[in-house]
Amino acid sequence: MDRLQKVIANSGYCSRRKAEELISKGHVKVNGKIITELGTCVKSSDTVTIFDKSLTIEEKEYILLNKPRGIITSTHDEKNRKTVLDLIETNKRLYPVGRLDYDTTGALLLTNDGELANLLMHPKNKIEKVYIAKITGFIDKENLIKLANGVYIDNVKTAKAKVRLKKFDKKTNTSLVEITIHEGRNHQVKKMFEAIGFKVLKLKRERISFLDVKDLKSGEYRYLSLKEVKKLYAETKK
Ligand code: URA
Repeated sequence: MDRLQKVIANSGYCSRRKAEELISKGHVKVNGKIITELGTCVKSSDTVTIFDKSLTIEEKEYILLNKPRGIITSTHDEKNRKTVLDLIETNKRLYPVGRLDYDTTGALLLTNDGELANLLMHPKNKIEKVYIAKITGFIDKENLIKLANGVYIDNVKTAKAKVRLKKFDKKTNTSLVEITIHEGRNHQVKKMFEAIGFKVLKLKRERISFLDVKDLKSGEYRYLSLKEVKKLYAETKK
């Protein structure tokens, strides 16, 4: 037995809040009967429909992929380009948790657990994402502090970040910077560097919360353990 809004969110249909809205507005039926009361409990044998279409509840799957360059983070592409889902063998309706750019590599979660996906993506839950950016030129302390305190991208200031210069290569005149953020705005890291006059040449997401891709080759993936899934949920409740 689980609460109706949780069952809907868990199915990946929408967030729990959106599910509550759909229930309150009378768009959800259980065994053919409209249910508007939030918190109504349903069994796995019950038939849940939203806008008269039945909700398919799949077994949950959680995958950590080391995304290669040159692949789009999407479930399908109009131009028929390769997507991250082409790298994964599954019969489940998985979708990526957030987005990595076409040329960004590294940690990407894919799941059909809509509730966890929404929790991980919500900025209020402050899930850490650690990136390594290779940028043009030498970045000094002053600029690192600017990034850490927040810079304006698209007229909105970014939240505080952790920033560390890992290496400066004199020969190629490039810096390697570790930057930890918990927001997930579009092209955020590239735009943050751009805002202070640096160009990102390469970008890798090393870690999402406690999950890193050190043991995965480019294009490889693995299933999360139950313990890791529980820990991820716990991270969103901190
Ligand atoms: N920030 C970016 O600019 N690109 C990504 O792919 C992820 C974060």
